[in-house]
Amino acid sequence: MKAVTVIPLTRDSLALRDMPKPSPGRGQVLLRPVEVGVCGTDKDIIEGRYGAPPPGEEYLILGHEALAEVAELGQGVDNVGVGDLVVPTVRRPLTCTLPINELDYCPRGTYAEHGIWYLHGFAAEYAVSDARFLVRVPKEIRDVAVLTEPLSIVEKGVDLALRLGKARFTSWSPRRVLIMGAGPIGMLALMVMRLRGFTDIVITATRPYDSLKAKLARDLGAKYVNVNMDQVEGEFDIVIEATGSTAAAYEAIKHLGPDGVAVLLGIYLDGKNVNLAPLLDDWRRNKLIIGATNASIDAFRAGVEDLVKAKFEFNGWVRRLITKEVTLDEYEYAYSWGHDDIKSVIQITPL
Ligand code: BGC
Repeated sequence: MKAVTVIPLTRDSLALRDMPKPSPGRGQVLLRPVEVGVCGTDKDIIEGRYGAPPPGEEYLILGHEALAEVAELGQGVDNVGVGDLVVPTVRRPLTCTLPINELDYCPRGTYAEHGIWYLHGFAAEYAVSDARFLVRVPKEIRDVAVLTEPLSIVEKGVDLALRLGKARFTSWSPRRVLIMGAGPIGMLALMVMRLRGFTDIVITATRPYDSLKAKLARDLGAKYVNVNMDQVEGEFDIVIEATGSTAAAYEAIKHLGPDGVAVLLGIYLDGKNVNLAPLLDDWRRNKLIIGATNASIDAFRAGVEDLVKAKFEFNGWVRRLITKEVTLDEYEYAYSWGHDDIKSVIQITPL
C-alpha cells in the first residue's frame, strides 16, 4: 500500500513509499483513512526535529490528524462496526497507567503517538488502531471531521481556561478574548469561543486585511488585526496563543489583564529565548498560564459535538478552513507551507 513516510530525525527523507498493508490484531481495527490533515508537528518531523519510528523499523508513516472508515474488525471488537466513520486519537499508553480519558497527562516516555512517536500514522491507504481510541463521527460532518484532532487541543485548552479561571473565584467573568494566530488552531479557537457565547474577540495574524484569514475572522464577528501593520491594543481576560512562536507566547502573557488566563497551544521549538523578568511583577495581578498540546478522548468527543453545532450555526464557515486538498500522489504539495494556507488535507479514499 502507498504511505507517506519519513526516516525520523533525517531531513529530506519525506517520500511516498510502498509499505506492507497492516492487519488488525485482537482489539484492533483496520482503518481506511479518508483524509489526513497536515500540521506544524508534521513540519517539525519532516525537518528532522521530532519523531521516532516504530521499534525495529526505519520508516515512520506520517499523519496524526485523520478521518477514517472502519474497514475490518479484529477479534473482540464490538464498539464500532465496518463502515463507521471515525477519528482516532493520537496518544496511546505504553507504560502509562493513567485512565483512558487522562492519557494526555502521561509522563514523557510512557506513551506512543500515531504518526509521531513509535506508531505509524494514518497518511496511508490502510492503518490499524486499537478500537478503544476511536471516536465515532456523524456523516453530516464528514466534510470537516478531519479537523477534530486539532480541535480537540483547542477544546481542552478552552475548557481548562474556563474551569480553572472560575475555580479561583466564582465571580470571574471573562469578556475580552485575544487569539494570536489565524491558522487552523487559531480559527478553531475562534469557532469554539463564539460557540461559548464570547462576542468581544480579537484575532491576529500577519496577513493583509483583505486576506481569507481576515475575512474568515470578520465573518464570525471577530476583529482582525494584521500585526505587520498594527498593534493589538489593551488587555484581555483570555489570551489563546496559536502560532507556536516563542515571541508570540511572550506577547500572549503580556496582553493578559488582571485575573486573565493565557492558554498556550503551541509546541515552542524555535529555540528563541525570551526574558520573562519584566512580566513577573505582574504576578500580583493573579494571572494564570496553562498549556495544552494533546487532548483526552473526551475532548475529541467535545470537538465532534462542536463541529455539528458549528455546521448549523455558522453555515459552511468551518469548511472554508480547509484551503488545500490534494491526493496521496500529490503529497509533497500538502507538506509545503504558505502563509495563506489554513488547513491542508490529503484525500486518500474518497467516500
Ligand atoms: C498533536 C498531539 C501531540 C503533539 C506532540 C501535536 O501536533 O496534535 O496529539 O501530542 O503534537 O507530539
